[in-house]
Amino acid sequence: MKYLVTPIIVGLFLLGGCLTTAQKENEVAGSKDLDWPTYGGNHAGNRYSPLTQINRENVHQLQLAWTYDTGENKNPEERAMNLQCQPIVVKGILYGTTPQMKLFAVKAATGEPLWKFDPFANPEREPRFHPLRGVMYWEDGADQRVLYTVGSFLYALDANTGKPITTFGKHGMVDLHEGLGGEETLGHEVSNLSIRVTTPGVIYKDLLITGSSVSEAGDAPPGYIRAFNVRTGKLAWVFHTIPLPGEFGYDTWSEDAYRKLGGANCWAGMVLDEKRGVVYAATGSPSVDFYGGARHGKNLFANCVIALDAETGERKWHFQTVHHDLWDRDLPCPPNLLTVQHEGRKVEAVAQATKDGYVFLFDRDTGTPLFEVKEVPVPTTPALPGEQPWPTQPVPTKPAPFAIQELTEENITDRTPEAHAYVLERYRNSLHGSKYMPPSLEGSLYFAFGGGAEWGGNAADPEGILYLNANNMLWWLQMRDIREQNQQSVTSRGASLFNANCSVCHGMGGKGSGGSNAAQAYPVLTEVGKRMTRAQISELLETGRGRMPSFQHISQENRDHIIDFLLHTEKKPADELHRTMPEVAYSGEDEFPYIPPFLNNGNIQFRDQDDYPAIKPPWGTLNAIDLNTGDYVWQVPLGEYPALTEQGIPPTGTENHGGPIVTAGGLVFIAATYDEKLRAFDKDTGKIVWEYQLPAGGFATPVTYMVDGKQYIVIAAGGTRYGLKPGGSYVAFALP
Ligand code: HEC
Repeated sequence: MKYLVTPIIVGLFLLGGCLTTAQKENEVAGSKDLDWPTYGGNHAGNRYSPLTQINRENVHQLQLAWTYDTGENKNPEERAMNLQCQPIVVKGILYGTTPQMKLFAVKAATGEPLWKFDPFANPEREPRFHPLRGVMYWEDGADQRVLYTVGSFLYALDANTGKPITTFGKHGMVDLHEGLGGEETLGHEVSNLSIRVTTPGVIYKDLLITGSSVSEAGDAPPGYIRAFNVRTGKLAWVFHTIPLPGEFGYDTWSEDAYRKLGGANCWAGMVLDEKRGVVYAATGSPSVDFYGGARHGKNLFANCVIALDAETGERKWHFQTVHHDLWDRDLPCPPNLLTVQHEGRKVEAVAQATKDGYVFLFDRDTGTPLFEVKEVPVPTTPALPGEQPWPTQPVPTKPAPFAIQELTEENITDRTPEAHAYVLERYRNSLHGSKYMPPSLEGSLYFAFGGGAEWGGNAADPEGILYLNANNMLWWLQMRDIREQNQQSVTSRGASLFNANCSVCHGMGGKGSGGSNAAQAYPVLTEVGKRMTRAQISELLETGRGRMPSFQHISQENRDHIIDFLLHTEKKPADELHRTMPEVAYSGEDEFPYIPPFLNNGNIQFRDQDDYPAIKPPWGTLNAIDLNTGDYVWQVPLGEYPALTEQGIPPTGTENHGGPIVTAGGLVFIAATYDEKLRAFDKDTGKIVWEYQLPAGGFATPVTYMVDGKQYIVIAAGGTRYGLKPGGSYVAFALP
């Protein structure tokens, strides 16, 4: 396979272990059992288990131990929901979530159900589904709680019964709008804006520290990081990821940006150093993606690794991986805490992987990069009017990037001559070059709006090796001047409102994001009236669904205009438009929601005309990177397209979502691929040593634990990505 990186033989240093307190306690107690007590396996987020029962020698004997069927995603009439949960295991009980966001407890040895909690059993709560990647556990003696979030509510449940802890917040719930500010600080209400938590936070002593997932458009609330008291639900501290006047970093934004922009949120999770009492969080982009005319400056603390005092929320240090982000380059996964041997000394470090293929490695105490980071000059033209691209960006000198950096004629697909010609034409007719090229009206092909490292997170072993799955995904970005386009082509108020609020995903006029990508994530809406009634669309705008946000902040009247536009039932003809258009389309400088003058054409992954990636393989990879030296141990393709394998094409790697775990048994387990397999790789060589065809795609991260002396591997098999069949089960494996 010509694209395999030559394995580099590296010296492995045996360093101290990295078990969590819970894991240690269990061992000290002399029990053979070992939990997986937190999202990420331990507070360091290492997705590492010291278990060795399942190992290189016997992994081929691994077999199905049990299946827990949530009973959901079965009805072909209903839209199937994502199942991305990495469950936790505490004292022999496995806690996980269902596609419809119920929380369940089963016996971890057998899958036997114990209880289930349905947040939507409460008639006041409209079902509103979104991805959910895990849950949290806390205990103080007999007071044992499982905590998780659904929509804008954080729930605390009794771990033994699944009943809400009524003394927590209001009837067992905390509203996550709390602590975000409002009219007084921000000049607008936040209570009606969409906020959810897709990845669990961490619990330190009595504090539950959490990030959030918010809109990436002009209606985003600020992505402040917050701590809530885990006993009472009371807000304990708030860290302003978008600083308020007078706070450090405020001057890295336009003066009023904190009032009208949001984001800079930690959506991919955080990790905790219990000994230091420090939480390390990775933040995403500021709103709005792709245009920064209302946020001149570096925009701290967006796109940052931030070390916060877990007790107080005080900032210890930060490092920004993208200045003034114009490319949606969120930090896509939580950091990993690990120990490395660096230039002859042992360093407790924190590693952060990015969407554009970098791994940054820092000293955990100071934030100093262990491998030098250079501020490299980047192109600042052609920039959109009002834009001030930042002239330099940080690039680590080591490790080498794990993902493709730039589209060139050489790496255009050669799968078939037709595919090559198709992609070459688009390549020649668009701007290409540096991944830091500012977004333009001409349109460019880029990597890393999505792809690179992924939300499943990365695994690290005590030897300082990072195991990371990655995607090479090419995107087509073209900006448009919504003021101009509105003048030219918009025919009604509904259309104008639609283009201002919805076209970023559904394309102008709902015509889809264009391109050839049949598997694109956003439905074409031009004929939506044939599939949905007025009431159904109205409900969808109220509740949101999956990646479709809710639009409660748009007035009912305006929502009706949008629906009229979609159903072609507009009563008012065009001429009134030019009076109403300016205020509905471009919000000007001081309004909230902020509608920028330039919007992107949709999030379009650019693929070839047969819907395969537009570049040469590998399309998805699994990497082992030695962070002691910064060198690769190996990089292999992850997954295959069955149709291409049939043609005799060697594994290309596929788009993959979900993460790896690593064990002392010498194995890396990961599913995440299009071919719906769970695989075990030899952690030293990257060779596949076992694979299993799951009942549905495993777009989640597995777990491993030991109960009654038996080691299990469990993964959620939820399918639904890439048009694949849906599933709703958790599948467990063990040795016979
Ligand atoms: C952030 C991206 C995004 C934005 C912005 C957005 N949508 Fe959606 N929309 C989606 C996604 C994703 C789906 C598919 C949801 C699912 O998984 O069920 C969807 C589904 C829909 C559907 C259902 C289509 C079908 O065939 O089932 C309608 C109708 C719709 N959106 C209307 C709108 C309207 C109107 C707006 C603006 C007010 C809007 N959307 C804004 C992402 C978006």
